[in-house]
Amino acid sequence: MKYLIANWKSELTLTQIETYMQVFSNTKYDSSKISVIVCPPFPYMQTVKKSVSHLKNVFLGAQTVSPFNRGPYTGEVTAEMIKDFAEYVIVGHSERRNIKNETEADIENQLINSKKCNLKTILCIRNERDKISELADVIAYEPESAIGTGVHPKLIDILSMKSKLVDLGGRPFIYGGSVDKSSVSSYNVKEVDGFLVGKSSIYPEDFVSIIRSLE
Ligand code: PGA
Repeated sequence: MKYLIANWKSELTLTQIETYMQVFSNTKYDSSKISVIVCPPFPYMQTVKKSVSHLKNVFLGAQTVSPFNRGPYTGEVTAEMIKDFAEYVIVGHSERRNIKNETEADIENQLINSKKCNLKTILCIRNERDKISELADVIAYEPESAIGTGVHPKLIDILSMKSKLVDLGGRPFIYGGSVDKSSVSSYNVKEVDGFLVGKSSIYPEDFVSIIRSLE
């Protein structure tokens, strides 16, 4: 089973999402081989949930979660809120580490709160120095040099990183960073359990092509 995670980041409007979901719902593929996890911006979670609820092996994920529990934290979205919509949550994405200055302590609190709410956690790491918490369910290796840049690292470098991750255990290891319909096949080996896709996940035709490459 491969994971394919669509990280829409701060892209797409409601109208675009409705069109996207029509294309996606009408796409036939072997869903027994691929778990698709769609991660929309928070305001659109309910809309996407309605569109995917009848689809096999398609889940909803949040792009981040608050390190706090409920309380006076303006703008924060807690794990308790997310669990009403989503099964997964992405934690520690490099854009949040960089833009929002999320620390390892914040990330650990996000993981703790998510696990308390039975969310499955996808922990993004940039390199072997980022901590791999035991609370992470899936580890996404995303080298910063490849995120949103069109740079495609060599498979051997991705596998070499995997071999350095002593805390990985038997957990799924996925790759993210400029994965697109042309490059995904070159990474589709048994040691890589799936992909976290940003830019190429916001165009439904591209995302469907990636799904087809993994069938
Ligand atoms: P990208 O983003 O596919 O646009 O490089 C990946 C990610 O940030 O998770």
